[in-house]
Amino acid sequence: MSVIPLNHNFPFDLNIRPSTSSATRSEDTRFGEIAQASAISKFGIAGRVWEASYILLSYLDCSNRDAPDQLEFDPPPFTRMACADPLTIIELGSGTGLIASRIAEHLRVDRDLLLATDLPDVCGLLEGNLQACPAIRVQPLTWGSTEAAVALAIFLGLTTPGANEAHSPRHPTHIICSDLVYFPALLAPLLRTLLHVTSPPFRSPAGESAVIVISYKIRSLPKETPFWSAFGLWFEYAPVLALRVGLEAGAWCRFPITLDGEDESYVFVARRRSESRTWTIPENDRDLLAGVGAWGTSEGKVDDSFETMLLMSLNPVYDYN
Ligand SMILES: C[S@@+](CC[C@H](N)C(=O)[O-])C[C@H]1O[C@@H](n2cnc3c(N)ncnc32)[C@H](O)[C@@H]1O
Repeated sequence: MSVIPLNHNFPFDLNIRPSTSSATRSEDTRFGEIAQASAISKFGIAGRVWEASYILLSYLDCSNRDAPDQLEFDPPPFTRMACADPLTIIELGSGTGLIASRIAEHLRVDRDLLLATDLPDVCGLLEGNLQACPAIRVQPLTWGSTEAAVALAIFLGLTTPGANEAHSPRHPTHIICSDLVYFPALLAPLLRTLLHVTSPPFRSPAGESAVIVISYKIRSLPKETPFWSAFGLWFEYAPVLALRVGLEAGAWCRFPITLDGEDESYVFVARRRSESRTWTIPENDRDLLAGVGAWGTSEGKVDDSFETMLLMSLNPVYDYN
């Protein structure tokens, strides 16, 4: 009997409406309420702009009208750093492409590349919304799929030099994930793809893997915590911190800054643990989420830095340098 995969963009109880935020520019009709309503009817969950993407734009896009320009960030967003080397950015689960379109405004078309990726049947939405962005390419990338990771490596010229569209090997420098931690069935495939794109041949010749920037909004902790428990075994990560500067200067605190400290959104910056290069990634999704293979052993295990952070308002310690 063949198993037909569920279409996670059209769950049976789907009842969603377009999101609104002052971060969506009214003159940009690609991501407004009307465009989202039409996209939701065709692409389901992928057609909506999800809340964590507005938080991510407040961090990455200093031209964002919502961006509190009196904030300093630790670490500073890569979009604000003068970078001498080419940027190769892969966005996973791009959906409407809003984030990709805004990051692209910070890129040098002659040097940088942003790959906006999603399920194959969502790529039409991305193609339509991003056709005016010369630094962006759209590429199907189904999480968990080894074949999709191989296709991505070929596209980036990492396996067959000279045969790729970009003409020279491009090792990813940044991976962007906005609002991708939600359905339990997607947690292991997402983690597996993050492991794929931070393993050879995606690592640079110097052995460096891409920096991952993740925005996350808590919806159901019991369903989502298993992702962080397994993710933290393979990746070092920490929340972005912000400092209010100017007249009302304050102390460094977790971004986004809220008056009551109750906001349940996070922006994390992560990097693959160097020790994990020699660990065997289990083929079975259940084992992967259970921590099998991490720290080089076949026992199940969890990383509790996410729960510790929630319980004690502590930040996982991570040296960005
Ligand atoms: C909640 S939406 C977030 C969209 C967008 N990043 C945002 O923040 O607005 C989740 C996205 O992940 C994509 N997605 C879901 N399952 C996927 C899979 N197995 N492989 C690749 N992408 C997937 C969906 O198509 C959708 O675009």
